[in-house]
Amino acid sequence: MAGMRGSMRGGAGAGAGAARERSARRTRLRALPALLVAAVLWVLPLPAMVDAARAQASETPSPGGVPYVPTPWPVVKAMLELAKVGEKDFVIDLGSGDGRVVIEAARSRGARGLGVELDPDLVQVSNDEARRLGVASRALFERRDLFETDLSPATVVTLYLLPRLLVELQPRLLRLRPGTRIVSHDFPLGGWKPDATGKVEVPDRAFGPPFSTLYLWIVPAYVNGLWEGRFEHRGRSETWRLDLRQNHQEVSGSVRIGGASARLAQATLSGDRLAFSAIVDGPGGRLRHAFEGRSVAGELVGLWTVAAVRPAAADAAQAAEPAAPTLARRVDPAAQPARQR
Ligand SMILES: C[S@@+](CC[C@H](N)C(=O)[O-])C[C@H]1O[C@@H](n2cnc3c(N)ncnc32)[C@H](O)[C@@H]1O
Repeated sequence: MAGMRGSMRGGAGAGAGAARERSARRTRLRALPALLVAAVLWVLPLPAMVDAARAQASETPSPGGVPYVPTPWPVVKAMLELAKVGEKDFVIDLGSGDGRVVIEAARSRGARGLGVELDPDLVQVSNDEARRLGVASRALFERRDLFETDLSPATVVTLYLLPRLLVELQPRLLRLRPGTRIVSHDFPLGGWKPDATGKVEVPDRAFGPPFSTLYLWIVPAYVNGLWEGRFEHRGRSETWRLDLRQNHQEVSGSVRIGGASARLAQATLSGDRLAFSAIVDGPGGRLRHAFEGRSVAGELVGLWTVAAVRPAAADAAQAAEPAAPTLARRVDPAAQPARQR
């Protein structure tokens, strides 16, 4: 009986053990994709700052939870070049470390700027270096949280921050003055396609891959919505009605002229500069209409050109007639700039 009980217990135990083993195997199989991703991420070269964050995780944490990793000098120069920083610019470096970005902008490009940094020792080092190089009147450093910094004076914002901070910053960056350039070292802004990117070789860096990636965005004006304007053509005043759809700097839509409408071709938006063209069929034949101008104080101001399109080559316009000034106003004045444009 005891033996039987024993064997029964053994039998039940063996059954439970097999079930546990099957369940563990299922769990292992389910976890396989995640493990594979983790393994790939582990062997892939991560941006230097992520690598540095890992390395510093066991050490004293940095004040903002972002490790201090200076941008290598060739990368600093490339960032300033990508943003075309010049004498008229005001550069704000968010999390300025030892101040090198703003100091270099002042020293080699005649710009003015501000660096904000949580670590007081780095702020001191930055101001000392700016004085030593004779640029202290144009390069200032303050101990300040970047989230409590007024960004409105910036014509250029530079960033070398971890993605979670960029996610928080993005809505504020999008509300900056149209035309403001934003350059980020190694980390993109989620969902906002960069206007340009660059790669800089950094063969001797201590962390991460031997290169840095740079991203440039130009803050677009808010032009989404319905617009109506007029232009003169062959002595007649004509109305154009524009329906614009905007996703950050990407624009598309249609234009209606003299009762005919057409989809926009080659529509571009860079800062406050808007350009588009459309081929419109009307009583006077097939015409290519083009607008080139700017969004200024809630109006579209620019030049309108019209050119006849040769029937044989549908898209090839003949020489355009002289450009005429034009101005358009919103016809949906209630439209508000969305938080995410
Ligand atoms: C990766 S370093 C970049 C330094 C410098 N911008 C450069 O490119 O050489 C990031 C810096 O951001 C600072 N930081 C992190 N969070 C911050 C915050 N909330 N406000 C201001 N500075 C911050 C860190 O102390 C660190 O010095």
